[in-house]
Amino acid sequence: MGDQSLAEIVPLPDFPRVRDTRYRTRRFGQMVNCHYSFMHENLMDMNHQVLHSRLVGKMKPRFLGMDHGDDFVEARYTFARTGGKQPLSEALIYGQRRRDGRDFAYRDVMTIRTHYPYQSLRIETQGIEEPVMELWISYVPQDREQMTNRVFGLLSIKRLKVPFLLDLAWPILVAFTERVFFEDREIVELEQAAWKDLGGDHNREVFPVINQLRNLLRRCGQAPESAEKAAL
Ligand SMILES: [Fe+2]
Repeated sequence: MGDQSLAEIVPLPDFPRVRDTRYRTRRFGQMVNCHYSFMHENLMDMNHQVLHSRLVGKMKPRFLGMDHGDDFVEARYTFARTGGKQPLSEALIYGQRRRDGRDFAYRDVMTIRTHYPYQSLRIETQGIEEPVMELWISYVPQDREQMTNRVFGLLSIKRLKVPFLLDLAWPILVAFTERVFFEDREIVELEQAAWKDLGGDHNREVFPVINQLRNLLRRCGQAPESAEKAAL
């Protein structure tokens, strides 16, 4: 995405976490039939957690704040479990079972950042300096009209105190994240289909984070070729 002439001179970011033996990193990525901005919005707007309630139980997000600059937008959230049990996969990520958590304890903070053109997500738990989970994603359009994108992602999870436990449980985590990604893919493709049906964006967006994110993507992104021709 973006200006192709810059591809030769702008280096890819480094991923020290991939080499970090205290973490295990998974590469993931698929084709998704939507414009990449839907992907950025989906991850940045944690109010969509209700979509995943069958997988993660009832999780209520609380927006903690945001930051934005010339080339980035960042949102921070914490979560309270309002129903259902903690899924095993979540316990593996946090490294502990949690029975309570009905209220906002503010011990876990999720930070989602679009640092154009990439997006990242990290989860930090109180008292631990390093994140328990880190996600880095690049969404690359696969057609000139930008109606599709391919996800190139890295998901790093901090190893547990018990050696090899994370490796043993890895297939469970892979299956869990695949199910979450499947639900996300379904919803963004429905959003794209609605965009096509309505002939454009008719959203009345009120969430400041998403409005800032949209401004950022408009400012930094490259318009599809058809839009450029229409403007001439
Ligand atoms: Fe999601």
